[in-house]
Amino acid sequence: MSSWPENVGILALEIVFPSQFVDQTELEVYDGASAGKYTIGLGQSRMGFCSDREDVNSLCLTVVSNLLQRHKIPHSKIGRLEVGTETIVDKSKSVKSVLMQLFEPEGVTDLEGIDTTNACYGGTAALFNAVNWVESSSWNGRLALVVCADIAVYAQGSARPTGGAGAVAMLVGPNAPLTFDRGLRACFMKHAYDFYKPDLSSEYPVVDGKLSIQCYLSALDNCYQLYRKQYAQRNSEAKPINLDHFDAVIFHTPYCKLVQKSLARLGLNDYVLSPKEQRLAEYPGFEQFESIKLEDTYFDRDVEKAFMTHYTPLFNAKTKKSLHLANQVGNMYTPSVYGGLVSLLINSDVSELLGKKVGVFSYGSGLASSMYSLSITSDSQALSTFKAHLSYVQPLLDSRHKVAPEEFTKLMEVREKNNHAAPYEPTGSVDVLFPGTYFLKSVDKMHRRVYERTPPKNSIANCSS
Ligand code: ACO
Repeated sequence: MSSWPENVGILALEIVFPSQFVDQTELEVYDGASAGKYTIGLGQSRMGFCSDREDVNSLCLTVVSNLLQRHKIPHSKIGRLEVGTETIVDKSKSVKSVLMQLFEPEGVTDLEGIDTTNACYGGTAALFNAVNWVESSSWNGRLALVVCADIAVYAQGSARPTGGAGAVAMLVGPNAPLTFDRGLRACFMKHAYDFYKPDLSSEYPVVDGKLSIQCYLSALDNCYQLYRKQYAQRNSEAKPINLDHFDAVIFHTPYCKLVQKSLARLGLNDYVLSPKEQRLAEYPGFEQFESIKLEDTYFDRDVEKAFMTHYTPLFNAKTKKSLHLANQVGNMYTPSVYGGLVSLLINSDVSELLGKKVGVFSYGSGLASSMYSLSITSDSQALSTFKAHLSYVQPLLDSRHKVAPEEFTKLMEVREKNNHAAPYEPTGSVDVLFPGTYFLKSVDKMHRRVYERTPPKNSIANCSS
């Protein structure tokens, strides 16, 4: 390549989520939780889940096939394919290698990239790899495809309502409608045991819920402060930035309430980092918070309430729209923040998005986190086309099947009991799956998994409906 590729970013987005969900109000009753705990306390309405018919491989096969068909991309145009996931079904064989089943028949085997794992962050690491590849001397002019997929399931107990499942595929290349802002990539990584999966025979994590929230919020503080610093270094003449810098902010979403707190938390950072005169002028009645230290406030109810109230209009303007899929499907783990991007795009008019800047916060327990920003194109034709390809999302959400909590629990027990069983014939319904869904047909005695696909709707191939 003789020239540096311009406007590297996301050329196309595709999302899949389970065709079945459990209602969170019904789950509250079933679990004996107080009314409103899951729906108001956590901010969740529905939780998508997969029966034993779907695993991380099938989710990835579905999302990649759907993206290539919807956008009519020949397999040979993809030069890099990688997967971010924490749903490990094999300690050696990557999900990427399973996806090669889609590419080999088309004669495509020269395909760089492999899997990346760290809780909900692996997809962002894979995305950064893809962007770096396109911007590097290794780039061969083809496009990169990044796949994030997970099945988020918790043992029965307080964490179970924060599950979910799904997959997002992102096509990465130059001249994209959503471009990565260069030089603005703030990372915060450290060792923590907040959420981890030490029992390799189980799908369930070990979770220290309170610590995970503290880790998430402290990662957010650190990433945002570093992003502000990086911006100041690159724009030495400009005023220090604050939340006004972003037209929208999207977050990794374990549950929606945490994200509302997180937007307010960015406001708290702005407050702490602004000069005293500005604080006094812009935050009347906040004098009591003059000497607070961020690290003392993770669970400070007074601070949290004051800043959430103050920043409610900004939350409504910059973040609320991005929570649609998280509210309806739950935590998808690696795809969660990119589901936020899809939600923002499908819930905004083209005119509201043109030329706008989106702040992105990605978090994975353990812990790894980043904040970066995307700039949306000012080309209304390009953006309209990009958005039109996502017009299938809401009708698909609306066509899901509701399952009673008793049935959901039974299906979870089947998954739990047969995790890693071999040989194994799944029993979950195939009829309930969406058209074009890959599903697990069988696992043989050598643990080899065979997949089939439900007949796709012609409209996937015909683009947007
Ligand atoms: N009506 C309204 N609100 C209620 C009600 C009610 N009846 N009952 C409780 N609430 C509120 C609580 O006050 C609390 O609000 P707060 O967070 O503002 O204090 C909220 O509902 C949750 O109630 P808790 O008692 O704090 O919930 P619990 O401790 O049982 O579990 C938790 C919550 C820790 C998030 C748990 O679901 C969990 O461990 N989830 C997995 C870990 C996770 O998602 N961590 C986040 C980052 S890491 C990651 O992404 C995996």
